[in-house]
Amino acid sequence: YNEEDQAGLKAFDWLTKLYHHLLRHTKEGKQGYRYLLERGFSDETIDTFQLGYSPQSRDVIVQFLEKKGFHPQQMVKAGVLTANDQNQISDRFRGRVTFPIRNHLGRSVGFGGRTITDQEPKYLNSPESSLFQKGKLLYNFDVARSAIRKEGQAILFEGYMDVIAAHQAGILNGVATLGTSITEQQASLLKRYVDTVIICYDGDRAGIEASYKAAKLLRHVGCTVKIASIPDGLDPDSYIASYGAERFQHEIIEASSTYMTFLMRYIKKDFNLNLEGDRIQYIEKVIDEIAIISRPMEREHYGKELANEFDLSMDTILQEIRLRREKLG
Ligand code: GTP
Ligand code: MN
Ligand code: MN
Ligand code: MN
Ligand code: MN
Repeated sequence: YNEEDQAGLKAFDWLTKLYHHLLRHTKEGKQGYRYLLERGFSDETIDTFQLGYSPQSRDVIVQFLEKKGFHPQQMVKAGVLTANDQNQISDRFRGRVTFPIRNHLGRSVGFGGRTITDQEPKYLNSPESSLFQKGKLLYNFDVARSAIRKEGQAILFEGYMDVIAAHQAGILNGVATLGTSITEQQASLLKRYVDTVIICYDGDRAGIEASYKAAKLLRHVGCTVKIASIPDGLDPDSYIASYGAERFQHEIIEASSTYMTFLMRYIKKDFNLNLEGDRIQYIEKVIDEIAIISRPMEREHYGKELANEFDLSMDTILQEIRLRREKLG
């Protein structure tokens, strides 16, 4: 870390403690605390994830940092504080619940902040900086790492709330990207620790599309991918709130499907399989996907599944796969 980053790290560290203290022990933080309790989080969970609150007042945070010896202008440069058009310096998370975001070494390098009064945007993040690079960080990775190793799989969520709700439900191997699609760097980071990644995104249209993209990328770096699907447009945290930890574990995580099963379902939505033309196009598309699978056994397995579903001979399917693979080289 260079000098500026060192100062930034120190400031983020102080702020993590301050926001958390304000939430847990002060009148100013009470709204934030109540919000989290209403969301179903226990004191223990709030402490474990060092969740906090930044008060509405303009000066509290700036004055605190000044007292600790940080220069407000430098803090703006480091992405800790923000300045408006009149160069009035303040904390960007005022009135929000805060989620410290730690790097792989366990140091806070930024925050996410959620509104508790339905302001837009719903979430804010610290700005990109040399410390805080969204495309490289995975939320909770430092803590989840040992559970990921132990279980031989990681669970990839969309949001911090999902990671935290899952953790409280006893599922400790969850991580999340920071509101963006997973990058190759994040995928490679996971791959270094684990072979299997369960994608557990929100059960809405956007979540399904994002699952498809994430699955492609994770397979590209060599991961085995499974995909959990959550019904009724719920997301992991709302599913757990509605149905409990037990059902989430058994009916969502353990019931996650293989990549190809997900893919066949995903491709199907564009076709009406009652129409002959659509049926053929669908089969072609699935064969395209099977052909790019590297393991022969997997190719045969899904080839068979397809042959059975459409009453085709295995020979035909294998021949189609071979033709495509020759073209791929
Ligand atoms: P809750 O509504 O609090 O349960 O949040 P969620 O975890 O369900 O969030 P959602 O599914 O809407 O979004 C997933 C992730 O995307 C969040 O954890 C954020 O990192 C990010 N995100 C969502 N909304 C915004 C936004 O308005 N701005 C930014 N920058 N990120 C967002
Ligand atoms: Mn979502
Ligand atoms: Mn949403
Ligand atoms: Mn969500
Ligand atoms: Mn949610």
